[in-house]
Amino acid sequence: MPLLTWEQKNSVGVRELDDQHKKLFSIINRLYDSMHTGKDIVELNSVLKEMIDYADYHFSMEEKYFDLFNFEEKVTHIAKHRAFDKKAAEFMGRNMLGDPTLSFFVLDFLEDWWLGHINNTDKRYTKCFNDHGLNGAPQK
Ligand SMILES: [Fe+2]
Repeated sequence: MPLLTWEQKNSVGVRELDDQHKKLFSIINRLYDSMHTGKDIVELNSVLKEMIDYADYHFSMEEKYFDLFNFEEKVTHIAKHRAFDKKAAEFMGRNMLGDPTLSFFVLDFLEDWWLGHINNTDKRYTKCFNDHGLNGAPQK
């Protein structure tokens, strides 16, 4: 059983961004699975790297739309993205020091952060993005 399953209630109303959130859930599930098979110590570095790279790609896209649509909450929203980046970089640094319990903290943080961010912060752009033509249809 995966830890996180994307459900319609997690939708931000934009297909492209929902798909990216699904991918982020799958990266978290990869960490969860590796902990079950005892492989997390060897896989944590690559999970963190994949998460950092994909979050960067995803945040860049949201922030591009904030600029394009002059989203009024863009400054506070972007600050939350940068706080995530900082935390993820901190975990990467701690992993270099070889902390064997780190996977649990990383998993707990990622699960809480992404569920909270999508449902409490991202959904605040739904109306703005929909009003500018981004919707449930695949975006080119
Ligand atoms: Fe966001």
